[in-house]
Amino acid sequence: VTRRLSFVHISDTHLGKTFEYTCRGSCSAQKLESVVESIHRLKEKPEFLIHTGDVCGDKESPAEAASYKLAESLFSQLKIPRFFVAGNHDDPELLQMHLQFGVRTVLVEDIKQLVYKFEFEGIQSLVLDASIPGKLSGFLPPIQLEILEQELRQASERQLIFLHYPPLELGAKWMDKEMLVTNRNALQEILLCYRTKIAAVFFGHIHHSQQFHKNGIFYVAAPSTVFQFSLASRSRPLDLDEEAPCGYNLVTLEEDLVNVRTIVMRTTFTNNQ
Ligand SMILES: [Fe+2]
Repeated sequence: VTRRLSFVHISDTHLGKTFEYTCRGSCSAQKLESVVESIHRLKEKPEFLIHTGDVCGDKESPAEAASYKLAESLFSQLKIPRFFVAGNHDDPELLQMHLQFGVRTVLVEDIKQLVYKFEFEGIQSLVLDASIPGKLSGFLPPIQLEILEQELRQASERQLIFLHYPPLELGAKWMDKEMLVTNRNALQEILLCYRTKIAAVFFGHIHHSQQFHKNGIFYVAAPSTVFQFSLASRSRPLDLDEEAPCGYNLVTLEEDLVNVRTIVMRTTFTNNQ
């Protein structure tokens, strides 16, 4: 029997307190609604959805309870298990309070750190939390590095790893300086040691659909559902890449094959209509 797993990787939805909230010129809730509809229409029903962070909030409008209630009302239209990673704009406590998760095993007993694992079709997913609220770069606490090492050491099957921040240099000058996991060398050491046990590492934060292959490890970034950053940006605020469409990734694993398809939203929205 061929084992097959397909799931949705979504990221950086940046919802506000109200449906009408606009984030850098786009209505984030309206855009997420069209993504939810698109996921509904998929021919092969994904087994779960995972969001790699910045579910709610942005610089102008910090995440609040109302933002997560809005998020839950949109995501709950999808009748599949959902999992969330904490981003720099998220409030991990409110996130866990208001969003419904699929069945998971919590690995760090701390409401402020969202570290857990879950399993589908015998394939384990590990969620790490490198978020520092309000900080553009991430940091993985030593306890999480220990957990990662232990999970990978014990694994007999290939694992999926999820976090918000890029765990490697991307070749994008400014992002590499400001937006990565700062202690990525320690992280990379563990990943490299167990690379044959890793199917792929998934992240968000860069607001762009990109894939990287380095030292035998496959890295996948999901686009934002709201707006895309330009990887050529040289300063903050980051320039937008108007050519890069909004969307999400559909990931399919079949034996040792990892297939990533970015589904783009073609609808154009006019503001303040
Ligand atoms: Fe973001």
